[in-house]
Amino acid sequence: MVSKLKMDIRINLGSAWTFLVLVGLCSARFHQVDISNLVQDTEPELNHTDMNTYVKTWLTQVYNPAAQLVTQADSETQWDYNVNITDDNQEATLLVSAQSANFTRVMATQLKKFDLNASDATIKRLHKKITELGIAALPDDDIREINKIIADMTAVFSTAGVCMNEAITDPKACPKADFMPLDPNITNFLRESRDTRKLRYIWKAWRDATGAKMRKNFIRYVAIKNKAAKLNGYADSGVSWRANYAEPALNYTDTDVLRDLEGLWQQIRPLYMDLHAYVRRKLMEKYPTENIRKDGPIPGHLLGNMWGQSWEGVLNFTQLFPDKPKIDVTDEMKRQNYTVDRMFRLSEQFQTNIGLKPMPPVFWNASMFERPEGREVVCHASAWDFYRNSEVRIKMCTDINMQDLITIHHEMGHIQYFLQYENQLMPFREGANSGFHEAVGDTLALSVSTPRHLASIGLLKDDKSDPETDLNFMYSTALEKIVFLPFGYIMDRYRYDVFSGKITSDRLNAGWWDYVKKYQGIAPPVERSEKDFDPGSKYHIAADVEYMRYFVSFVIQFQLHKALCNASGHTGPLYQCDINGSKAAGKLLGDMLSLGSSQPWPIAFEAVTGTRKMDAGALLEFFEPLTRHLQAINAKNGDRPGWTIHKDDF
Ligand SMILES: *[C@@H]1O[C@H](CO)[C@@H](O)[C@H](O)[C@H]1NC(C)=O
Ligand SMILES: *[C@@H]1O[C@H](CO)[C@@H](O)[C@H](O)[C@H]1NC(C)=O
Ligand SMILES: *[C@@H]1O[C@H](CO)[C@@H](O)[C@H](O)[C@H]1NC(C)=O
Ligand SMILES: [Zn+2]
Repeated sequence: MVSKLKMDIRINLGSAWTFLVLVGLCSARFHQVDISNLVQDTEPELNHTDMNTYVKTWLTQVYNPAAQLVTQADSETQWDYNVNITDDNQEATLLVSAQSANFTRVMATQLKKFDLNASDATIKRLHKKITELGIAALPDDDIREINKIIADMTAVFSTAGVCMNEAITDPKACPKADFMPLDPNITNFLRESRDTRKLRYIWKAWRDATGAKMRKNFIRYVAIKNKAAKLNGYADSGVSWRANYAEPALNYTDTDVLRDLEGLWQQIRPLYMDLHAYVRRKLMEKYPTENIRKDGPIPGHLLGNMWGQSWEGVLNFTQLFPDKPKIDVTDEMKRQNYTVDRMFRLSEQFQTNIGLKPMPPVFWNASMFERPEGREVVCHASAWDFYRNSEVRIKMCTDINMQDLITIHHEMGHIQYFLQYENQLMPFREGANSGFHEAVGDTLALSVSTPRHLASIGLLKDDKSDPETDLNFMYSTALEKIVFLPFGYIMDRYRYDVFSGKITSDRLNAGWWDYVKKYQGIAPPVERSEKDFDPGSKYHIAADVEYMRYFVSFVIQFQLHKALCNASGHTGPLYQCDINGSKAAGKLLGDMLSLGSSQPWPIAFEAVTGTRKMDAGALLEFFEPLTRHLQAINAKNGDRPGWTIHKDDF
């Protein structure tokens, strides 16, 4: 049903004038609205006495409803493209992005005309967010070009795969039965296979099919991103990304951000090196013919993951106490015939048990939970906000295993955030910073993945806690959480350097490997060159997603977890805490989530944790028994944590 919408917003504040007129065709699917007709700018009059009241009215009556429509349209077209990659759908996203940029400019211009009384901190914050144009600062041609480049790079990534018939060099000629997409096929293969020759083949073939194909586009992308950053007053695009963590109101600057991030890494590094040394020893025993050096980096194809960003794939032959329960409950889930729906319901139930909001009905019928047949989709899991009537969705190609169960908790954490802050004005409907958005679901999953909790939901037989089972649990958690940190750190340390020009376009791949070798202690299993572009084998590089948010999240989720555990009345070691059922913990978290970004993040953070600072102390506390255990094993084996890089480590 299509109905005519005519919203004529006049704000009568004595001297009547029109801010703008909204005229449009409104149907159930907002993305059919022609946004170019939505906004007709008229000059506001500026001689009003109570400017703050005036601006508040403009924000709530004019800006907000219009911004909602525009953002909805943007989300809708993006969704349609993401669940159905076609040229037409891509074209639709480019059009809406252009219209949305127009809208951003008009609104910023209007707001800038107001003579603001800067004493109101909230208005100041809104003003900054609305007048910051982002990509809309660019000329229309550039906007179209950068959006097209990003859509094309994402499409390359999302439609790529590896032909398991190695005789076929042209992937297009690959028989359907031999063609493996990343999710879930390649991902599962890397986790399960111990065939080092095949693993090496896939490691390379995936990079040939992705990064190498987007190198040229990426170089152009960097140039346009930097142009936009400069137009917004930043030195380069890296600075503009980091502005998400800086808080001018608290004098927390870009320099502080960089220094604190590096400080966090230095706190974590010794534990990562202990873990690295232990796993390297196990890999040398498992793969004696792979020439792994006792003091060398680990070859990237042996870690059970395409990027070596989590090492759960090697759990079953590196487990500390193989006779004790392993905390990967995948086999048990399969034995119990778990369904995708049941996995999502389980995650929802944990949230409602602590008093958070349930998923709305539309979540269950409009989401995409499994890879559909007969069309290309962006399988990379994501959570979506449509900015109206609690409409939220998840898009994910779910597989029945523990890792995906945890991913569901992660994505549903985003959804909970969307629902909690939905009554904020549009510019505040985002995380306190992007790291917070990533941390919500992970924080809850820290409780869910404890042996005690898994036993309580029938996924572990034996819930008798003993030190060895606890160490097994900490170890498998570390393979995900500790292993991730150097990767989470370098993804953007690398891009900061690319944006600033420190890494030049003729060293794009070498610059990447400098970081991987130095921070992750991982080396490529085959020779690399500047024909390759290995960072582009990772979704977030192809899709232009800032990544430091994940590093921040992996640190602060332990601080949040500890605070929620305290609120729930937990006593005993942090690694045993399960906040399940604690309304006090849920309220503490929910209250912070409902703030969105209306407060500087250190203030929101302090309300929950009692501190304004990110700190790895809670994380180190969580893993403390494991740290001691690994150090003892490494000492016994005569293994020194750390690695040196030789020329023949490629
Ligand atoms: C995918 O998008 C095309 C338009 O490009 C449309 O014709 C087709 O119906 C869509 N498929 C599905 C399953 O939605
Ligand atoms: C954006 O605005 C310009 C002029 O202000 C107009 O020429 C252009 O068509 C608009 N773009 C879209 C996609 O509406
Ligand atoms: C999904 O459910 C909502 C609420 O029950 C309903 O309004 C909507 O039409 C449904 N949508 C689809 C695609 O089934
Ligand atoms: Zn996320």
